[in-house]
Amino acid sequence: MSAVVVIGTQWGDEGKGKITDYLANQADVIVRHQGGPNAGHTVVVGEQEYKLHLVPSGIFCPGKMCVIGNGVVIDPEILVRELDYLKDLGVDVSNLRLSPGAHLIFPYHVIQDRLDEDRKGLLRLGTTGRGVGPAYMDKFARIGLRLMDLLDPEIFRSLFVPLCEHKSHMLEKVYGAERVDADALVDHYLSYGDRLRPYVADTVRLVNDALDEGQHVLFEGAQGTLLDVDHGSYPYVTSSYPTAGGACIGAGVGPTRIDRVIGVAKAYTTRVGDGPLPSELKDDIGEAIRTRGHEFGTSTGRPRRVGWLDTVILRYSARVNGLGGLAVTRLDTLGGFDPVKICTGYRYKGERIADFPSSITALAECEPILEEMEGWAAEFPPAETEADLPKACREYLKRVEELTNCRISMVSIGRERTQTLALEPIF
Ligand code: IMO
Ligand code: MG
Repeated sequence: MSAVVVIGTQWGDEGKGKITDYLANQADVIVRHQGGPNAGHTVVVGEQEYKLHLVPSGIFCPGKMCVIGNGVVIDPEILVRELDYLKDLGVDVSNLRLSPGAHLIFPYHVIQDRLDEDRKGLLRLGTTGRGVGPAYMDKFARIGLRLMDLLDPEIFRSLFVPLCEHKSHMLEKVYGAERVDADALVDHYLSYGDRLRPYVADTVRLVNDALDEGQHVLFEGAQGTLLDVDHGSYPYVTSSYPTAGGACIGAGVGPTRIDRVIGVAKAYTTRVGDGPLPSELKDDIGEAIRTRGHEFGTSTGRPRRVGWLDTVILRYSARVNGLGGLAVTRLDTLGGFDPVKICTGYRYKGERIADFPSSITALAECEPILEEMEGWAAEFPPAETEADLPKACREYLKRVEELTNCRISMVSIGRERTQTLALEPIF
């Protein structure tokens, strides 16, 4: 295996950062290929907890090449701040490479994102408010600016000023927003361009050359399958492709080069933002899992909604991503709950269904069919192999394998880097 894609199988926050950090050790190049600063990936190394929004989680493995691909939308201000944060903590960022083709998020995107969410009477999605949706809108409307445009002061000024005035005019007339001062922003953004210039490289070439040389390339997905704009619970989705296919487009590699897709699944389900969540727990158990798991958004601090593990979703995810293995995280958080339940199917209009419905109105009417299983103790024993896991926990994993028809390749049993077990070789 030389190219492995790690994706989220649920609604994001599955622990992709942790799994990526673990696998990065075995990789040579780690690539973020979609999404933007809406992502919040947490990595714990020893006593230190790091939170990343744009930089790949491989950055904590010294000497590895870390790439932000063309499919990502970069907020230059957030990226520069993140680089400063990492440098302040002594993390070497010299091996970061940025695609010149990555689109940029500007203040007018952030303003539009927040105003869109406030429009009364229209659908509210509960976005992260980071301007991600509006930046992808401009990309597809072909009025976006890319990192390459920020590198030359003349070009940037000539493109940015009229565009910013156009956007500002629209925000003022349609949304009643205050005008954005384009001229005032130019120098500000050019200074970010100066900071980012040293990292810009031909990342498509870099990643493909690495694969040609037989190096190991790890693709780090952001968000999750059900937030995919095509395959997710539309319209409650993000504006990019968190499914495995997104890695090819967002990094510039052909589909024939991907060897394996690992789907990260939390041992229960969470969702931040609006939209149906069939296995949702609105009771004390949900509250207890949220508290025990610190289930609050990394990007926005919002409480995450919590539900039992939903294998309808995992089967769907296995299908649209071509999963070659599951990485099940947060088994420690689920410890102490007895019984634990697994959603095996939905009841919809009195009928049992096993497949994820394509219509959001149907999904909203689905009730979970739950199966009970014995729980395991809250205090998770140290484990180095599968045999060290509590028996009830092993039974739970076996049942998940049966219900998803997908083998479990990795498990995570705690926040620390060392609390990850690979049950088979991944690369
Ligand atoms: P990671 O990579 C969880 C959700 C938002 C909202 C919807 C659209 O940490 O798993 P957006 O700002 O993208 O337009 O919001 O998507 N969302 C996430 N939820 N984890 C994420 O990323 C998310 N990124 C976006 O809450 O429901
Ligand atoms: Mg997150």
